[in-house]
Amino acid sequence: MNAANGSTPFIHPPKRQPTPLSFTPSQLNFDAPPTDPIAAARAWIEESLQLPTPNPNALYVASVDADGRPSLRAVLLRAFDADGAVFFTNHKSRKGRELAGQGCAALLMHWDHLDRQLRLEGSVESTSDALSDQYFRERSRSKQIGAWASEQSQPLADRATFDARCKSFEERFAGGDVPRPPHWAGFRIRPSTIEFWQGHPDRLHDRIVYTRSGDHWTVSRLYP
Ligand SMILES: Cc1cc2nc3c(=O)[nH]c(=O)nc-3n(C[C@H](O)[C@H](O)[C@H](O)COP(=O)(O)O)c2cc1C
Repeated sequence: MNAANGSTPFIHPPKRQPTPLSFTPSQLNFDAPPTDPIAAARAWIEESLQLPTPNPNALYVASVDADGRPSLRAVLLRAFDADGAVFFTNHKSRKGRELAGQGCAALLMHWDHLDRQLRLEGSVESTSDALSDQYFRERSRSKQIGAWASEQSQPLADRATFDARCKSFEERFAGGDVPRPPHWAGFRIRPSTIEFWQGHPDRLHDRIVYTRSGDHWTVSRLYP
């Protein structure tokens, strides 16, 4: 590819028929938006669980380092309510350090089948030990061992090193439950803005953003 001389081959995916869905998607009323964006976001999240896609709860988390450099990765959304969006990870990872260090995050969920995007921005806190323990207990044993063995975001010499670390933790915890590693826990993002974007094939798209002040949300429409 050569952008400088105008010979860049642009990416044009072949046109495909929309995937037939087993349900009729709800319609968010952008002309008279609901007053509670948490309930509306939750409704979109719950509806997405019916989609024929492996990870409808994929959540893209943007963090920023002390120099303002952003980074972004996928995680899986594990809870969402009035207190915010929860996912679990290694708190010593790059995201763990950046989220704890700067105290803010931006989140995105995109559901292609529904032509929908949900964006949140907010403050960061760790989930309680009780909630982190509860979720860790629900994970498979191999994932529990992986949480101990993976020094997430650190350089790894080769696959064999990782496999050997897994084996050593399997031996360490043989015959008993695997406890939650102290560095493995949840993050809760408490939203200060929530934005809904709905695409339309035959007309202009719809977009509204809610902004929180105290317990109150104000909503405004944005050009899409
Ligand atoms: C679909 C998908 C789901 C993922 N879910 C998680 C998750 O829930 N928690 C997690 O720590 N990493 C998850 N990952 C891996 C992250 O994207 C990322 O590679 C890892 O957390 C290290 O990121 P960091 O170095 O920026 O901290 C997932 C990756 C994909 C593709």
